[in-house]
Amino acid sequence: MDLQRFPRYPLTFGPTPVQPLKRLSEYLGGNVELYAKREDCNSGLAFGGNKTRKLEYLVSDALAQGCDTLVSIGGIQSNQTRQVAAVAAHLGMKCVLVQENWVNYNDAVYDRVGNIELSRIMGADVRLVPDGFDIGIRPSWEEALESVRKAGGKPYPIPAGCSEHPLGGLGFVGFAEEVRQQEAQLGFRFDYVVVCSVTGSTQAGMVVGFAADGRADRVIGIDASATPEKTHAQITRIARHTAELVGLGQAIDERDVVLDARYGGPEYGLPSEGTLEAIRLCARLEGVLTDPVYEGKSMQGMIDKVRRGEFEAGSKVLYAHLGGAPALSAYSFIFRNG
Ligand SMILES: Cc1ncc(COP(=O)(O)O)c(C=O)c1O
Repeated sequence: MDLQRFPRYPLTFGPTPVQPLKRLSEYLGGNVELYAKREDCNSGLAFGGNKTRKLEYLVSDALAQGCDTLVSIGGIQSNQTRQVAAVAAHLGMKCVLVQENWVNYNDAVYDRVGNIELSRIMGADVRLVPDGFDIGIRPSWEEALESVRKAGGKPYPIPAGCSEHPLGGLGFVGFAEEVRQQEAQLGFRFDYVVVCSVTGSTQAGMVVGFAADGRADRVIGIDASATPEKTHAQITRIARHTAELVGLGQAIDERDVVLDARYGGPEYGLPSEGTLEAIRLCARLEGVLTDPVYEGKSMQGMIDKVRRGEFEAGSKVLYAHLGGAPALSAYSFIFRNG
């Protein structure tokens, strides 16, 4: 496997810290040791997150092609588009963002605060469109690309979550390599990695990276799309493509992609009572913030699996904290009493 041959433009601080979640582990009975790898603190560019790690590879390609405008898409409170806006500002590029109506939620300031506020402050051309949730390629996004071309610009397309991009899986192959180096320093190996999945390239990259030492199915995806069949298919497809790209030298099997569909509901972007309990628990025991769209659901999944005894006693579980807390203010009504 050769990740080094792909140019990577540094946007992150370097390897992300691995931090024990001691109080949460103890609260849950102490039979399983929980740790977090802090992708949510991976960069100084507008709070970073999982997309910033992926963008290190995409942006090298954009610069090599001489593009001048990053064009991307997501929901109104998309973390991806906020990270693309930050990277464009950092590189002196323009940025066009298509923000769709993915979430059935109407806090009074939903389209004013959080991620979208930050993108506007960073100078992105934010375009709100009424289309609903779908992780695939959208016409509104293609129209945005065309509008940049018509204005004489050279757009670089970055699809939702970076996932449909040919290089979208590379960042999290790198995550797995980084974990292996950290395990060597820590003197133990993690038994499981818990990761939130929606558009799929985060888990896909991990599956490829951990397949290298036979641990692909130890990556436990927690679906937050509430359309888990689509997400599972997309993770598998991206993992296969990425495996070929980096020369993994082995096939990715359907069974390598583990996606737990129990926590994605009631819908994409809406938390269940269990999600809210997990967000509050992790915040109050650890001072670590997770959001109602993504990380709150994977935190819920991890906590529930510990409670159900689905991780063997003595297991060491690594929670990949992928970011997302900037969306919390868009859900202020839910948390009005804490
Ligand atoms: C905070 C956060 N967690 C998890 C995800 C899911 O990652 P992916 O879309 O690569 O499956 C995203 C983006 O979609 C995200 O912004």
